Amino acid sequence: MKARGEKIAVLTAYDFAFARLLDAAGLDVLLVGDSASNVIHGHETSVPITLDQMIDHAAAVVRGVERALIVVDMPFGTYQSNSQLALESAVRIMKESGAHSVKMEGGDVIIESVRRVVSAGIPVMGHLGLTPQSIYKFGSYTVRATDKGEAEQLMRDALLLQEAGCFAVVLEKIPAGLAASVAKRLAIPIIGIGAGADVDGQVLVTHDMLGLNREFSPRFLRRYAELHEVMSDAFRRYVADVKSSRFPSAQESY
Ligand code: KIV
Repeated sequence: MKARGEKIAVLTAYDFAFARLLDAAGLDVLLVGDSASNVIHGHETSVPITLDQMIDHAAAVVRGVERALIVVDMPFGTYQSNSQLALESAVRIMKESGAHSVKMEGGDVIIESVRRVVSAGIPVMGHLGLTPQSIYKFGSYTVRATDKGEAEQLMRDALLLQEAGCFAVVLEKIPAGLAASVAKRLAIPIIGIGAGADVDGQVLVTHDMLGLNREFSPRFLRRYAELHEVMSDAFRRYVADVKSSRFPSAQESY
């Protein structure tokens, strides 16, 4: 698709119902993101979600998909310490969920893990820039790689990930110009989130682009629906109907 200049559309999915809708809508890639930790499990960060939880989400997504490529985030603590652990975690994801590939956050510091997993035949997507699993190191979710040193390191990391065999790299919340340079320099697709338009594809967190969470509105987020209002209204009308005995009607009864 990169070679053809065709943009790649990616959204997150965490369950069967959403996966089915997303797949039918023509998404190229579904990312079972560890953002499930925030948007599904209600944690403040992506750090607490476990490998078992990610495998459960991924298996449900797999059951809903007929054609899209499924990428599963390897959660915090399942690949950073050594490449053997990384391989074991990735193998569990592939065998127990039926997904097609995994994603890891980081560059040079995790490169041995990336190589080991790729060499076992498991496709790996990289993730650079804002890497939410390292939130306690960075201390904030602000734009990354705005200074020259960090930008050069990001370019080096992107090249390293490509050399290590990654099939694509996510760039999160970095200057658009830098993301465009990385996309131009690398042969593999660059998928942006808050990384401008001149990359090979875009990813958003589905729950955010649907407007399920009114409080979260970073500049890069375009809301394609306001489901918070739609769903709240439906729930309120249901409560009112039950309380007033308007539901169920005679036609809705046996
Ligand atoms: O976990 C996630 O949803 C992600 C995307 C934001 C890229 O990693």
